[in-house]
Amino acid sequence: MSNQDASKSDDAQNATSHNPTIMSDNDKYSYLNRLGITVWLNKKLGTTPVGIPTKQKTTSTAIPIDVEPKVQSQIKPKPVTNLEPTLEHTTTNIPADTDPTIPAATNTATTNNTGNNTTIAVSSTKSTLNWDELAIQVTQCQLCPELVADRTQTVFGTGNRQAKLLIIGEAPGEAEDEQGEPFVGRAGKLLDNILFAIGYKREDIYIANILKCRPPHNRNPSAEEAEHCQPWLTRQIELLNPQLILAVGAVPAQNLLKVKTPVGKLRNTIHKYGPKGIPLVVTYHPAYLLRAPGQKLEVWKDLQHIKKILS
Ligand code: URA
Repeated sequence: MSNQDASKSDDAQNATSHNPTIMSDNDKYSYLNRLGITVWLNKKLGTTPVGIPTKQKTTSTAIPIDVEPKVQSQIKPKPVTNLEPTLEHTTTNIPADTDPTIPAATNTATTNNTGNNTTIAVSSTKSTLNWDELAIQVTQCQLCPELVADRTQTVFGTGNRQAKLLIIGEAPGEAEDEQGEPFVGRAGKLLDNILFAIGYKREDIYIANILKCRPPHNRNPSAEEAEHCQPWLTRQIELLNPQLILAVGAVPAQNLLKVKTPVGKLRNTIHKYGPKGIPLVVTYHPAYLLRAPGQKLEVWKDLQHIKKILS
């Protein structure tokens, strides 16, 4: 996580609908170029691009065939007004001890970030909170003393609250901690280009992180911190009810799927998240792509799956 440059985006409320259609070669090259992927054309063989996954390859080999039709058929049009889904079912993806419907200990603190003596009681049950209540309560969370002491502010999440696509990252970095928005640094700019490659803008989607606070020196979130923060994200997912979750990097993928499997092995599959079995796809973190640009082509392949699911 090392994305510290600024590129602000608004908390847009109005969705732009997308109907990604089959892409022309020119569009494909333009998207790949924007991602920083060089396309070599074989002069002798005409326009056949080298190093680009063909349409057949990306759509048929990456998603296990027994998974794809099932998941596709489960995607229903999203009711715009359905902001308060009831929680009647649980699945193995959300362990009972972290289910937000089960009251946890009330989080009461006597100091805030600035050291003022204010008593804040954070509600123990988050499953009834609406977006605004949730956002306020996140600002008051004091569950992780080290993070609370170090943070400038909490980073709730941003984007379209009716989005079909939810991107989940790891935790705020320095720029995000300063600006109060996720993915505003260098990795955020690359994320914007990744979104562009599937025809989305920031204001079309919602972005959140596993942690709402910046871990000091951008260290990885501890298991305890991730557990403390989970009910906030769980409620965000319930409220958003996205058509697809994209977990970028190991921390979100492993925390959401409750596994320790490396990202490379979690890719190429449509996982299911939570009681509703929301399709979840895993790809590399943009900050990793900044360090390992050779993997961008792999992300391009993941994007094709995403586009297919969303269209
Ligand atoms: N990396 C993340 O995972 N999330 C952010 O918000 C910024 C960088």
